[in-house]
Amino acid sequence: MHSYIELGDGIITSDPGYLIIENFARRFGAKVTSVHIYNKECSYKLTPKLARDNIDEKTKIISLIDPLNPLGSSYTKDEIKEFAKIAEERDLYLLHDITYRDFAKKHYLVAKHAPERTLTIYSFSKICGMAGLRIGAVVTVPEMMEPLKAVIINDLGTNALSQIGAIKALKTKKKWIKRVREHTYENQKIIKKAVDEVEGSFIPVYPSNANMMAIDIYNTGVFPDDLTECFLKRKIFVRQGSYTSRFYGDRYIRLSFSIPKEQVEVFAENFIDLMGSLKKLKGKLIHPLRSCQKETILYHFPAAESPARFGRVSTPFNYRQFFLLGTPLHRIGYCIH
Ligand SMILES: Cc1ncc(COP(=O)(O)O)c(C=O)c1O
Repeated sequence: MHSYIELGDGIITSDPGYLIIENFARRFGAKVTSVHIYNKECSYKLTPKLARDNIDEKTKIISLIDPLNPLGSSYTKDEIKEFAKIAEERDLYLLHDITYRDFAKKHYLVAKHAPERTLTIYSFSKICGMAGLRIGAVVTVPEMMEPLKAVIINDLGTNALSQIGAIKALKTKKKWIKRVREHTYENQKIIKKAVDEVEGSFIPVYPSNANMMAIDIYNTGVFPDDLTECFLKRKIFVRQGSYTSRFYGDRYIRLSFSIPKEQVEVFAENFIDLMGSLKKLKGKLIHPLRSCQKETILYHFPAAESPARFGRVSTPFNYRQFFLLGTPLHRIGYCIH
């Protein structure tokens, strides 16, 4: 991103979305236009029309996370072609983040239609289950790759274990991809059934094209932070909405489901149970985290402070004070703020 953005350039992203991308952009002095997409009129995604409406003379990049973290919305072939057209017409770059592509039943690459304007980015963390190994890829034409080389920060290279694993995963993918995809689709059905049983909750994008979905609980009166905290006490990890949204974080939780069926069933059971008890409290449960939400967001979102990712993990320290700087497996460290 550093190679393509200069001070004052614009980038269009979505909210909800994978906020780390816009955090990076801000770090390089970009003006971020985070388009609100949490509504069914736009099918919970940054549509070509919304992108057009938000382009101005400073816009340099449109960031398409497809399928979208957290909602699992994805693009049709026509929409993808339209984005390619926009990039050509308005002299823009498209950052096509296809990290969750392999979970989608159908998926289309914008690079096919606008190769000279597209940076396709991919992580091995999700479908290959290699999150701790820190390996991903950028695919683009040689001319677009050239400026990227100038800002490579990983001088010592990616470790050999990750590279061997990633190559093996690519070579064997055909053998297991269908099974993983079908399995995650089946898991979604279990979750949907549980969500349908809780009045006031719904899944905005169903089925999701990723291995995650949002579950909207706004009309139940239950706060996502309270729910995620209660889940955590039962050793079930889900994300509160504010992890992927600055504007709609009070509406939903995000759930990942590329896990064994039995674990999804445990989630389903506990979702019904917890929502039942929390609804009875009618929002009276004020979790300490909720009162410091603003502060948390301040630390989490503006550019520079958080070098890698904000971790919410079990520590003797206060949640707000803990920044996880590295990643699991290797290169780990922390700082107490
Ligand atoms: C859309 C998207 N892109 C990229 C990444 C980065 O993946 P990694 O954990 O491999 O850095 C994530 C991780 O959650 C993501 O959701």
